[in-house]
Amino acid sequence: MIDSKKIGLWVYGYGSIIWRPAIPYSVALLATVDGWTRRFWQGSHDHRGTVENPGRVLTLVPEADVQCKGRVFGIAHPDVEQVLKNLDFREKNGYERQYLSVITHELGPIEALTYIAAPSNSAWLGDASDEDIAEQIRHSIGPSGTNIEYVLSLYKALLSEGIHDEHIQAIANRLDNLG
Ligand code: SIN
Repeated sequence: MIDSKKIGLWVYGYGSIIWRPAIPYSVALLATVDGWTRRFWQGSHDHRGTVENPGRVLTLVPEADVQCKGRVFGIAHPDVEQVLKNLDFREKNGYERQYLSVITHELGPIEALTYIAAPSNSAWLGDASDEDIAEQIRHSIGPSGTNIEYVLSLYKALLSEGIHDEHIQAIANRLDNLG
């Protein structure tokens, strides 16, 4: 039984927050957002790449008639301030806070904070072929580790949650083949 009154903030993760939340949370649920899809269109200068050789990390982009499945984390009231501070720092390279309605099996729709990098940010890379995305990821490494690890950790986490995502699958397949 989830006691929603104890939760001061819901945080929706669609990328590394799924497999490495690194925040204190009281409950984690599978959650879906309508009208958004995850894409490796954001550059990473500070985690999985460098300014000279940016990695590719995920952002959410709007797309009609699709859903993005991720995880939503319920943060207890006393932890909210620290969690916001940690996440604002972690997602600082182009991401902005955004509140979205996410749908959970247990609670129905809830408002959740997520971090989205928009095309206007200076680290934005945008669309490319699966080949080019995989090639760039394969050669990128930053202070948090290799870009390949970022992709394959998410891929495995999604599999273990029973979530299939074609874009992630396409890139992960290429990295497995190449690696
Ligand atoms: C997220 O995980 O929800 C944001 C993108 C990332 O840090 O990978």
